[in-house]
Amino acid sequence: MSRSRSRGWFQKHSRDTYVRQAQAANYRARSAFKLAEIDEREKLFRPGQTIVDLGAAPGSWSQYVAEKVQPGGRVLAIDRLEIKPIDGVSLIHGDLEDPAVVEKIRDWLAGRPADLVISDAAPNLTGIAVTDQANMAALGRLLVGLCPATLKPGGHFLIKLFQGDELAAYVEELREHFRTVVTRKPAASKDTSREVYVLGRGYNV
Ligand SMILES: C[S@@+](CC[C@H](N)C(=O)[O-])C[C@H]1O[C@@H](n2cnc3c(N)ncnc32)[C@H](O)[C@@H]1O
Repeated sequence: MSRSRSRGWFQKHSRDTYVRQAQAANYRARSAFKLAEIDEREKLFRPGQTIVDLGAAPGSWSQYVAEKVQPGGRVLAIDRLEIKPIDGVSLIHGDLEDPAVVEKIRDWLAGRPADLVISDAAPNLTGIAVTDQANMAALGRLLVGLCPATLKPGGHFLIKLFQGDELAAYVEELREHFRTVVTRKPAASKDTSREVYVLGRGYNV
């Protein structure tokens, strides 16, 4: 990015009300507000739950969830980027494609699978819409494939995807494994972004 373009992005980003709110609330990213909005509508989180946050860096979703599940809850955050420590959150540094990382998640769960598996994970973007959609869908398939090892029967799965040809097929696949599936576009998600969040409730293995 050229210096002038990067300055333009920075000025726009720092004017963003969600960025300012995130700074005020000590969240590491504005993404926390997308999750908060979905939670407000869907009533996902409550004390005592076990949550697995896939693709969690820098950690604002985990920060939000860690507050919601206390007392008695557990939160595990995983990313291939390092995540700075968060109160009440266990961390795994590694790639979700690596079976050794999945084994570490299972060890952490210790036979008590998650009430919710949540994912805001995104591949490195190329800027080519069709490629980014395909990469996102491939990542989405990898992550839903982790449900048998991580999510309890009856649990919920929330995942970010991109609008596009692959989305409808993905939603249909989720319907085979979840009692209900809905798509949400929170106001905190920029209109210019193709991201949407898909929520599957009631995992039936
Ligand atoms: C948009 S960020 C997540 C933001 C986070 N929800 C928050 O609120 O701070 C997407 C993350 O997905 C992670 N990611 C993508 N593919 C991954 C993979 N295969 N394994 C682990 N992390 C992955 C990226 O490293 C990146 O940190």
